Amino acid sequence: MPLLDVRALSKRFGALRAVNEVSFGVEEGEILGLIGPNGSGKSTTFNCIAGLYTPSDGSIMFEGAEIAGLTANRVCHRGIGRTFQIPRPFRNLTLLENVALSAFFGQDRSATRQACWAQAEESLALVGLPTDGRITLDGLGAAALKKLELARALATQPRLLLADESLNGLDHREMEQAADMLGRIRREKGIAIIWVEHIMGVLMRVVDRVVVLDHGEVIFAGTPKAAQENARVIEVYLGTETDA
Ligand SMILES: Nc1ncnc2c1ncn2[C@@H]1O[C@H](COP(=O)(O)OP(=O)(O)OP(=O)(O)O)[C@@H](O)[C@H]1O
Ligand SMILES: [Mg+2]
Repeated sequence: MPLLDVRALSKRFGALRAVNEVSFGVEEGEILGLIGPNGSGKSTTFNCIAGLYTPSDGSIMFEGAEIAGLTANRVCHRGIGRTFQIPRPFRNLTLLENVALSAFFGQDRSATRQACWAQAEESLALVGLPTDGRITLDGLGAAALKKLELARALATQPRLLLADESLNGLDHREMEQAADMLGRIRREKGIAIIWVEHIMGVLMRVVDRVVVLDHGEVIFAGTPKAAQENARVIEVYLGTETDA
C-alpha cells in the first residue's frame, strides 16, 4: 500500500479544469517530483491534498484512510506537512518563535511547550538556519525564507512533506542547496516528499520518480532519466526551461 494514493483527482474553477483526473502514488520514504510548466496544476494538486481546496472529484488516501475534503489542520495533524510557494512568516516574531508555533499547532496531541521549542530548534538546524532565540526575520533573503518555510513544515513532524519550492529567484548554487537539503531530510528523517517545481534540472538530482503535469493532466510518470528522454515531456518543456 502506498503512503499516499491519489486517484482521479479533479479540481475545477468554473469552466477551468485546473486538475483533471490526476492519479499517482507516493511510497514510504520516496521523493517524488511533481513537475510541469506554469499553470499546469501543481499547486492546485497540493492544495487539494493539503485541504486548502475541496476536490471536485476523486480520492486521496493517506496511510489507508480517505483524506479528501478534510480541513487543512486535520490533514496536517494526520501527518502531511507542506510549504507554500510564497513564504508568509509572522514578521513580528523571531525565527525560533515562527517555527515553535508550527510545532505547537501542527500536531494532534498536547506536545509540551518544552518539546515544541526543542522541535523548533531541531527543525531550524536541519535546514541550516541559526537556532538562537533572539534572531529576528530582518534582512532574511529569498533562500533563507524558503528554508524557514521548510523548517515550519518539518516542525509539525510530518511523514509526508509537500514542498512547493518554486526556485525562481534563487541563484544556481542556492537551487542546488535546496535540492540537496530535501535529499538530506529524507535520509535523516525518513520523510517521504513530493517536490513541486517547474524548473526541471536541479530536481532531477534527488527525486526517485517524476510525475509530469500539463494543463492539469498527467502526461508522464516514471524515472527522471526516462522523463528527460520522453518526446511529450521534451515538447512541453521546450521554451519553458529556464535552468538546464
Ligand atoms: N483559486 C483559484 N481560482 C481560479 N483559478 C485558479 C485558482 N488557483 C489556481 N487557478 C488556476 O488553475 C490553473 C493551475 O494553477 P496552479 O497554481 O495549480 O499552477 P502551477 O502548476 O502551480 O503553476 P506555477 O508553476 O506557476 O506555480 C491556472 O490556470 C490557475 O490560474
Ligand atoms: Mg504553483
